[in-house]
Amino acid sequence: MKHLIDPTDLSRKETDEIIALGEEIIAHRAEYSERLKGRKLATLFYEPSTRTRLSFTSAMMELGGNVLGFSDARNSSASKGETVQDTIRVVANFADIIAMRHPIEGTALAASEVSPVPIINAGDGSHSHPTQTLTDLLTIHRERGSIDGITIGFCGDLKFGRTVHSLIKALSQYKDIHVVLIAPNELRLPGYIKRDVCDRLGIDYRECTTLEEAIPSLDILYMTRVQRERFLDEEEYERLKDSFVLNAAKMSLAKPDMKVLHPLPRVNEIATDVDDDPRAAYFRQVENGKFVRMALICKLLEWKQDPAHDMPQRPVTSVPEETRCHNRKCICNTERIPYRFYRSHNGDIRCCYCDSKIPVSE
Ligand code: CP
Repeated sequence: MKHLIDPTDLSRKETDEIIALGEEIIAHRAEYSERLKGRKLATLFYEPSTRTRLSFTSAMMELGGNVLGFSDARNSSASKGETVQDTIRVVANFADIIAMRHPIEGTALAASEVSPVPIINAGDGSHSHPTQTLTDLLTIHRERGSIDGITIGFCGDLKFGRTVHSLIKALSQYKDIHVVLIAPNELRLPGYIKRDVCDRLGIDYRECTTLEEAIPSLDILYMTRVQRERFLDEEEYERLKDSFVLNAAKMSLAKPDMKVLHPLPRVNEIATDVDDDPRAAYFRQVENGKFVRMALICKLLEWKQDPAHDMPQRPVTSVPEETRCHNRKCICNTERIPYRFYRSHNGDIRCCYCDSKIPVSE
């Protein structure tokens, strides 16, 4: 069975099939209006969301299916101490497919390990957000006609930005991708993504500290919000929150066909004087999110019985018995999930659930 926990769970071919189906649905919406009649999607949102939850709901309704779930875990039995894995075992009796968001990293993977129905990760802490990635890929494809060959700048919070981590991983499956990383020192892209994804898979990247320096070379500018909810130190958030602001003056330095994407919500990082610029694609991107989620739900239900689409094996390595993941925001430290580790391509030992590097004495 296929779940979507991380963008790399999809092969390039599977990703392309989802993007192509998204395009097909946009062109022939009426033909899909009863495609999933009688099927049910559960949306389990333990963390706030506007776009992701409502676009999943809208997607399932446009396919003729039904939706159940919760948007606030305080109204679920999680508030009585029920574990995520028990909740999944229960909800799988009521739904054909589950989309879930949780503030703790690795939760969707832990859910998939006990689920008899496909699990879609709708965001796990600052770790991964693969359906935003599919939204971004469909948007780039629609705006430019192709994903191969782009120069894309990621700007803002590249440390905690799960949408950035996921999109870079997905872009590693495309050809001739150039990445420009624009972030303050404190919010730079995690080293494991630079090493294990960019270096190993051949994404050319450079880092810079001003938008003005980066913007003239870009085909896509991917702006992100500095995420208050991920900071342990409020003072640091206040110091960094307005590090980069895109406005009409900076847009005048960009190519005439550069496109601006943002997963949204925005706070201050894009001035409203950019909104009417035809290169501002972020509200079109929201609409694409619904179509690509329609395509994803159809494909995961179609692939459920097909062993050719089973999940790729996640490698596990043996480590000394006392080895622990030290990430307080990892599911294996918040629920009774056994620790599991893998060896990354540069030899580091990492947690299977959150990808944190583990200091191991061997
Ligand atoms: N882009 C995104 O994930 O938005 P929401 O948090 O509103 O779902």
